[in-house]
Amino acid sequence: MFKKKDLLSGLRTSIVGKKFFLFDTIDSTNTCAKALAEAGTEEGFVVVTEYQTSGKGRLGRSWKADPEKNLLFSVLLRPKVRKESSGLLTFYAAMAVARAVESLTGSKVECKWPNDLLINGKKICGILIENALENEHIEYSVVGIGLNVNQKSFAKEIGHKATSIANELNVELDRTKLLKTILVEIDKLYVQVKEEKYHLILKEWNDRCSMYGKMVSVQQGKITWSGIAKELSPDGGLVIETQNGLHTVHAGDVTLI
Ligand code: BTN
Repeated sequence: MFKKKDLLSGLRTSIVGKKFFLFDTIDSTNTCAKALAEAGTEEGFVVVTEYQTSGKGRLGRSWKADPEKNLLFSVLLRPKVRKESSGLLTFYAAMAVARAVESLTGSKVECKWPNDLLINGKKICGILIENALENEHIEYSVVGIGLNVNQKSFAKEIGHKATSIANELNVELDRTKLLKTILVEIDKLYVQVKEEKYHLILKEWNDRCSMYGKMVSVQQGKITWSGIAKELSPDGGLVIETQNGLHTVHAGDVTLI
């Protein structure tokens, strides 16, 4: 169980984690963070829960995680950057989680476009960013993170691709310490986000991405694009070399083929 006192104690951040909203059960931390943001709550607060009844995933999917085993949280930021940067926030959040997991486990984390983190080729973390735009700028951004930490068994439907840090590395992590380490990284990298200086974040992401040079297919609704994964486009799309030339995808599910 998370305790506010433990989360706040020694947390050396300047913006992220100044306030915590803790729940045992909630529908979705993203939905809650959005409501708080709409009510004008200052940036940097974190909504954390032990369990979600309607956890949201990408592309309208749900996110399911057992209670008291994982990290399910959302951070609210108001970076006041151009709306064109919104597609890059996911790489920022992914790098913060990757750095924290690597520093506490000593094991390498891989990145999969657009927003998954993997260990041994299986997904440990998903990120759902929900932005509110105001004219040409981001008014606020809800950074939702679901990280499978100590959960050992997964439902049959997802068991072939979902895993946890415990399953892959045979360690049980202290979730409070892990959450605080991630928040420190989110706070540190936020400086680069506010200045729209993404090159270091994208370089780090690229270094952890094992898809480049491999044949992939990207499912976008009824359309499938197949080709060799080449690089990220400046706005965070994935450039693939198809039989008909280069094509950039901005959404969808990637599979190695
Ligand atoms: C994905 O589809 O991979 C993204 C999953 C994101 C799940 C997290 S869990 C905490 C936060 N609250 C939600 O409802 N979703 C995100």
